[in-house]
Amino acid sequence: MQAVDRILEYKKVNGLPVIDAAREDQVIANGAAAIKDPARRDCFVRLQKEMISISRAYQQRNGGFPGNVRIGSGVLAEASGVFDLHRKVLVVTDEGVPEAYPRAVLDQCLDGALLVLPQGEAAKNPGNVELILAELLKRGFTRSDAVVAVGGGVVCDMAGFAAAVYLRGIVCYNVPTTLLSQVDSSVGGKTAVNFGGVKNSVGAFHQPRGVLVDTDALSTLSPRLFSEGLAEVIKMAATSDAALFSTLETADDLRPLLPDIVSAALRIKLSVVASDPHDHDLRAVLNFGHTIGHAIEAASGEFYHGEAVSIGMLYMAEGSAKERIEKLLKKYNLPTEDPFTVEELMKFVVSDKKRRGDVTRIVRVSEIGSYRFEEVDDAALRRIIEKRKI
Ligand SMILES: NC(=O)c1ccc[n+]([C@@H]2O[C@H](COP(=O)([O-])OP(=O)(O)OC[C@H]3O[C@@H](n4cnc5c(N)ncnc54)[C@H](O)[C@@H]3O)[C@@H](O)[C@H]2O)c1
Repeated sequence: MQAVDRILEYKKVNGLPVIDAAREDQVIANGAAAIKDPARRDCFVRLQKEMISISRAYQQRNGGFPGNVRIGSGVLAEASGVFDLHRKVLVVTDEGVPEAYPRAVLDQCLDGALLVLPQGEAAKNPGNVELILAELLKRGFTRSDAVVAVGGGVVCDMAGFAAAVYLRGIVCYNVPTTLLSQVDSSVGGKTAVNFGGVKNSVGAFHQPRGVLVDTDALSTLSPRLFSEGLAEVIKMAATSDAALFSTLETADDLRPLLPDIVSAALRIKLSVVASDPHDHDLRAVLNFGHTIGHAIEAASGEFYHGEAVSIGMLYMAEGSAKERIEKLLKKYNLPTEDPFTVEELMKFVVSDKKRRGDVTRIVRVSEIGSYRFEEVDDAALRRIIEKRKI
């Protein structure tokens, strides 16, 4: 079934539908044309149809996601069906994550242990990675054992990094429990800690072997953290999924829609990641709102990341798209204004680590569901900021 997963991935990356009957018929006809004996030809056609129908059913199963990604309400109870937990497993979480979530995974492990770390961005440091590594060593973990991260982006980033470097790499599974981590950080393979006062300055690419996204876990998030995660969903919808954007605009109650909303956003992230596994240029679409957003985050220390990105998107959106994004952000209690001067923002924009020389690549949205890149120099960037400040 790995080959079928690859076909599914190819279809996603290239925007092809899972079911394309005309193409399937064409593939069978091409193969059959090369067989002269009518009996063998009939047999070939029957076999091909059978194989395609099995492959099709497999690809449609699990909402079109690969077998190692499961999303839904209550799927925490299915961890052992998605992850191989028949080995030593260290479940890593933090003290802010309700205990029931790591416990649900631990209960499904044959030989599991729990490590609870301090919570918050300040905890995302090498000292806590050392704690994970020491635990793995103390418990005699080998390369065939595994780590399961249960928590937000901080836990997933740290546990993933420890798994990447322990014995040069052991299996890591992610169970993201914040909205931001469910739609963003749990997939893509970026792991890191903050070091020397610089965010994510030490890390590694290490793909999680499986991801379990239980949208029920979002029920315990504070409204502010939930809205912050929603900012990332709005960002992805604005650039890549007009239907998802409309759903967010018209929904009265998001709760019953969460499995579909998270699936749609994760699908966008997975397809971007698949086209750019090592974060060269193509993942840059995910930076919509981040150029000014990072500056606002750095300048204030008050705004959460998603809140700063919300404001940042409005600098980069244009026309009717800007109006729709602004209205949607307000609907979900996200900020749309920042208190900083052009000078204050420029100071942080020019120190952005993603710049090449004095050129910044920005993502612009003038129509919901599509985007374009622009390479701008500092003078052009200043004009963009000034325009919103007037
Ligand atoms: N690796 C990537 O690709 C990637 C992408 C985006 C962000 N990140 C990283 O993610 C981190 C931010 O992640 P985050 O926003 O999830 O923050 P977080 O991990 O700090 O979680 C926020 C808070 O929510 C608590 N929490 C987690 N799940 C909960 C739940 N279900 N109910 C109640 N409380 C819960 C946590 O204990 C924590 O206090 C940053 O460090 C960022 O750099 C990584």
